[in-house]
Amino acid sequence: MKKTAANTDTHPGKGRRNFLKTAWKFLGAVAVAEIFFFVISLLKPSREINQSKPGSTLRIIGNIEDFPPGSVTPDRINKVYIIREKEGGFLALSIVCPHLGCSVLWDETKQQFDCPCHSSAFDQHGIVLSSPAPRPLDYFPVIIEEGKVKLDLTRKTKRKKFEPGQMTYAV
Ligand code: FES
Repeated sequence: MKKTAANTDTHPGKGRRNFLKTAWKFLGAVAVAEIFFFVISLLKPSREINQSKPGSTLRIIGNIEDFPPGSVTPDRINKVYIIREKEGGFLALSIVCPHLGCSVLWDETKQQFDCPCHSSAFDQHGIVLSSPAPRPLDYFPVIIEEGKVKLDLTRKTKRKKFEPGQMTYAV
């Protein structure tokens, strides 16, 4: 049947009803999708669980021999410095200044990290030498397995001071 202006006039609410039906269908589909993703998120393991499983969030940074004793090596991709002490211990420090988040730079001559933004300075363990930085550089646990140096980048740790337990030694 050919649609005419007269037919439309006889059902003035039909267009609005169709629009409302479509809108309800759309909202129903959105609600179902939200419930689906909510259930999926409940079934997925949480980040905390991932952290407790050794190896699940580790990133290989390099081989042990890539970090000679007495060196400080920047890793711009992961935003860390890998410090290898003369005695062989490893320490991974965040590149991010704890004052306002600028990237600190290693000064080989002065043997310290300098922040270019407000002149904070840190020693090679990341301890504050000059403020305004409110605390040492954060560190990441280093794991050494099968000759590889690995970091758990999900475990960035704040601290008040350097402690020998923050170092990792190859066995
Ligand atoms: S951001 Fe480093 S001293 Fe301010």
